[in-house]
Amino acid sequence: MENIKEDILKDLDNVNTLEELNLLKIKYVGKKGIITSLYSEMKKLSVDDKKNYGKEVNELRDLFNEKFENLKISLEEAKVNEKLEKESIDVTLPGVCLTSGAPHMLDKVIEEVESFFISMGFDVASGPEVEKDLYNFEMLNLPKGHPARDAQDTFYIKGDEWLLRSQTSPVQVRTMLKNKGENPIRVICPGKTYRRDYDDATHSHQFMQVEGLVVDKEISLAHLKNVLDKMAKKIFGDGCVTRFRPSFYPFTEPSVEYDVSCFKCNGKGCNVCKGTSWITIGGAGIVHPNVLRMSGYNPEEWTGFAFGFGVERITMVKYGIPDIRYFYINDLRGNKQFERLGD
Ligand code: DAH
Repeated sequence: MENIKEDILKDLDNVNTLEELNLLKIKYVGKKGIITSLYSEMKKLSVDDKKNYGKEVNELRDLFNEKFENLKISLEEAKVNEKLEKESIDVTLPGVCLTSGAPHMLDKVIEEVESFFISMGFDVASGPEVEKDLYNFEMLNLPKGHPARDAQDTFYIKGDEWLLRSQTSPVQVRTMLKNKGENPIRVICPGKTYRRDYDDATHSHQFMQVEGLVVDKEISLAHLKNVLDKMAKKIFGDGCVTRFRPSFYPFTEPSVEYDVSCFKCNGKGCNVCKGTSWITIGGAGIVHPNVLRMSGYNPEEWTGFAFGFGVERITMVKYGIPDIRYFYINDLRGNKQFERLGD
């Protein structure tokens, strides 16, 4: 019995898990367990011996049961503690920072431009970026082989019928065709355009333009100047002055380029206006009769003006952004700076 007691103590000492502990229960007090079988020996003994023997076996059983229960409790506790430790949340760790998004700066400026033109009664239209040569050039009075096509180095798609639009001007054609030569038009179209340019600080193979078209009766250059002057004041501030210079575009006659006075130096000359005190914003003019005619508007009856400018250009000028590539490198710090712009 002494030996069994020693075995029990040794076995319990070596137990590390609840599973191992349960095996010991079977080993000692299970149906065929060591202590259980000691009881079946009883019947072989005399009444006197039975007393002592029974007492000792009981003590052995109680010893086992007591040690078993204690060990069970501490193993269960250890298991819970281990779980707690593994799954614990360290509330002193810094939290996961959720960053909020911000609209892209070009979208902000487009919104500003759109809200100005909407206030002047214009609609906002859009057109496809994969465009027909017919709309991007031919119906804008730029037939195949026209030298002015060279100024817009174009991405053609399979042959010469389809291209990535090199300007938003084809939306003029689409809008006039939709209105079937019958309705007056007042529309702007902001959108992406593409040219085979090498990317540098002021050029990008993808950029954005806003196109504008007004077709009505007796539209003159004075209307055009008024609208663009008002827009410049809205975007660059009330003190902004506009200047119109003669230029050439095949789809307008006469054509102009328009500049705004440099808001930074007020005419003294600085790095923004490159010393000239003027900043060129875009092109414009009176819609060429050929363009009206090709899109179903009778030039004897209707006149119109059109304009186009680069969105990156006015954004760079307005906010002193030195490189057009900043708009397209997806650095969120740029957008963050402009989060509240226009609010
Ligand atoms: N499409 C011209 C360009 O990309 C800009 C422009 C000039 C648009 C004169 C016009 C316009 O509508 O009348 O350079």
